[in-house]
Parts: sequence; C-alpha cells; structure tokens
Amino acid sequence: MAVPLAQRAAQLAPKERAMLEAVGWPMELLEDPLKAPRNVENPQKFAEALLLEDHLEEVVILPDGLRRVGLSAEEALPSWLTKAMAEGSVLKCLRRLGPQELSEHKAALEFPDDRGVQREALPRPYPFCLWHGEGLAHSSMPEAWRDLQQRLSAAEALLERGELEESQLYACEMRRLRERTANAAAEAYGVTESTKSLCLRHGRDWLAHLAKWTLYWNCYDDGVFIGGRGSGKGLHVDQVLWSNLGKHWRGHKILVTWPAGAESARLVRDMGDAHFRAPLGKEQLEALKCARCIALLRPGDLFLCSGGVAHATLSVSDELTCTGYESLVAMHPRLVEHVLQTGTASGPCALNKGVMECDELKELREGMLQRLTALLQEKAPKTSELKSDGLGESVALPAVRLKKHLAEAAKQMAFDPSFAVLAKGAGVCRLLAASDRILEELEPSQKRRRTGG
Ligand SMILES: [Fe+2]
Repeated sequence: MAVPLAQRAAQLAPKERAMLEAVGWPMELLEDPLKAPRNVENPQKFAEALLLEDHLEEVVILPDGLRRVGLSAEEALPSWLTKAMAEGSVLKCLRRLGPQELSEHKAALEFPDDRGVQREALPRPYPFCLWHGEGLAHSSMPEAWRDLQQRLSAAEALLERGELEESQLYACEMRRLRERTANAAAEAYGVTESTKSLCLRHGRDWLAHLAKWTLYWNCYDDGVFIGGRGSGKGLHVDQVLWSNLGKHWRGHKILVTWPAGAESARLVRDMGDAHFRAPLGKEQLEALKCARCIALLRPGDLFLCSGGVAHATLSVSDELTCTGYESLVAMHPRLVEHVLQTGTASGPCALNKGVMECDELKELREGMLQRLTALLQEKAPKTSELKSDGLGESVALPAVRLKKHLAEAAKQMAFDPSFAVLAKGAGVCRLLAASDRILEELEPSQKRRRTGG
C-alpha cells in the first residue's frame, strides 16, 4: 500500500539518512513524525495552504513544486549564478563571478564563530576600504562599500587569518544594489514596478492576479541565500511577523520552526542567533526537542513557513544550497492577527531584538492599508472561483472564502490601534462599512452583528 504523502515527509531515503547521520543531530528528532512538515501533492493544495489556510505553525512543502509552478533554477535564476554555484563553496562561487556581477550585487556573508555565534564578514569602514586591498578602488561611491567585491575581500581576509571555516560561509539576502526594470513575468499581469531582486521570476508570478488577495507581497528586495555544508541562519524571528514563500533550488537544508508567540519570544531572548551546527550543546538540544517542525528541504521544493515564529536553518549537503524567499501577508484571520503583533513592545510575546525600525514599520503598515483599501474598492468578481493566470500549473480558489477573509481582515485592521491611527476615524468607518457590505453579500439571509477588537 502506498504511504500517504504526509507520512512520507518524515521518511528519509538511504542517502539522505547517511547525510543526516553525519550532521550530528539526534536522528529521532529528524524522523519524528510529530515534527514533520506537511507535504501537499499539487499546486492547488499549496495555493490553498498559502492563501486560505492558517499556516502559522506549519511548514508546507510541495515536492518538485518549483518545476510545476514555472520557477525552476533555469527559469528563475540568472545563468551567471547557477553556473557559479557548481563550485563547492560560497567563496569559490563568489570568486567565479565577474567584476560586473560583484559590483552590482550585495549580500551579507555570515558564519558561526568558535562559540557558535553568528558573525558577518565586514569590510573596513568606508572610505578606508576604497584604498585597502587589490583592485578595490573601483569606485568612489559609498555603495561600493556594500557590494559583493568588498564582502568577498573581507571573507578572504578572515580565511587568511584562520577565523573562517570556508564551508560554513553563508551568503544571505543576495540581491542587486540598484533597481532594475520589472521582470517580464510580472509585467504580463500588469506589475511594472522596478525591483532589486536578482530573481527573474517569482512565486507571485505563478498566482498572478490571485496574488492580489494578500495584504503584502514583497518581490522588490527579496534575497537569495547560498550556503555550504554547516552554514545556516541562527535562531531568529523575522523583522515583521509575515509568511515566507520559499524556493529551494539546490542542495539539502534543515529548516526548524518553533511554536508562535511566547515560546518564540522566549527562545529569541534566551538564545537569539544561536547556530545549530554540531556539536549541539544542551541548550540547542532542548530547543530542538520543543520545535514545532523539523523539515528537510530537498532540491526543487516549493515551501511555505512563517517568518513570524522562531526559526533556524542548516545546510547539510556537500553541494551548495540555494534558497530564495518572498515575504507576504495572507488574509487568514490568525495570520492577520499575528502580523498585527509586529513591534509589540511588552507582554510575553514581545521580541527583544530584530524588530523593524519605526519608520519602516509605518511604511509597511501604510502599504498594507492601501492594498486592503484597493481590494475592498475593487469590483467584486462574480465568478465562484478565482483562477491563477500566471506561470506553471494553474489553480482556482473559492471566491467566497477569499472575500470572507478580506472582510475579516478589514475588521481586524480597523480595530487595531496602529492601523486606526493611520486610517483616521473616517477611514476606520469606511473599512467597517466595506467589511459589512461584503459579509452581507455573502450571507444576505442572516442578520449579523458587528464584532471585533
Ligand atoms: Fe527568517
């Protein structure tokens, strides 16, 4: 009898088992079915999990999903990058890039130090960096300090001093320094804004018009992460409590997530940025035991997780891993409630580090409010299903459920003090009225009472 897909998520092929045994983590944790991710069988189920369901404490994986939604490495990544990644380490990969690629892109080059604490390879402060090192005085622009050439030189210097284990270097948030024109895949459904992303296609381009049914979706400065075996991101919660659509193009990587709210805040407070490379200390082992999900990401996986819970990653394959993330806010009421907690400064769920700056947070909230208002004003579609019309396999979602989430989201934001201040009194009234109108349309026979807060 075939093993259900959900169970298969926790099962390992012999080669994977051998690879993970070498990682030095307890195998019973890696194979615990209670901590397994939720595997789904097709893009339709994945889209439902993404846009309709509560995925706050889940990792949802569509195996081979990148090919099915038109986001394979060949389609979504520039060829100069895919070619360079054939090398065995991040340093070798970066050394293979040409001067133009190095000067036009940026990334944080991170690595764990002897004590397992995450560090970053930083060049000498500007402007000293401009006359330090061979061939670096290529620009008098301050942005040259932030480019990949400077970061590569800093990593080379650490390597020379014996402070860096080459395989553990992690290139984080790689993207362009300057904006460029929108991708053709985005222009196809009317998105013409310029971008700093180095990706040629996004997950948003698969859903196209359906992706509008979200409060936020970032394809402007989304980053790509490239790592050698033993590299990864330490335990953290993202700056905003949003969701992440992940594209895992290469290699094998472990992704760990923890329960939302107070538990995540406690872990950030007690062991923020802690790396999970072996040998694991007592604290790391205890933390892994209370993880909500431990997922092995395989090449070609399209996946979904929350950046609003504590999470950490570890590359485990000999070949380089490469993953891209798009952050978004879907409209399931629990996800909206969670994102509204961003910036909470007191109580058990307050984070003591890594929270977005006030100005940026205000800008984000304004963007979400604008997007919500535009969706509420849009002529409601009369069809029972809304279809994706972008890349790859198409999907269709029930209009009633999307509209219901929209109405709920409008109420949640209207009753949230930060959004109420932005929307002002009349704006709050408009949000509530629009929400009522939608709910009345959906359930005309029932007399409803306004609730919220
Ligand atoms: Fe993150």
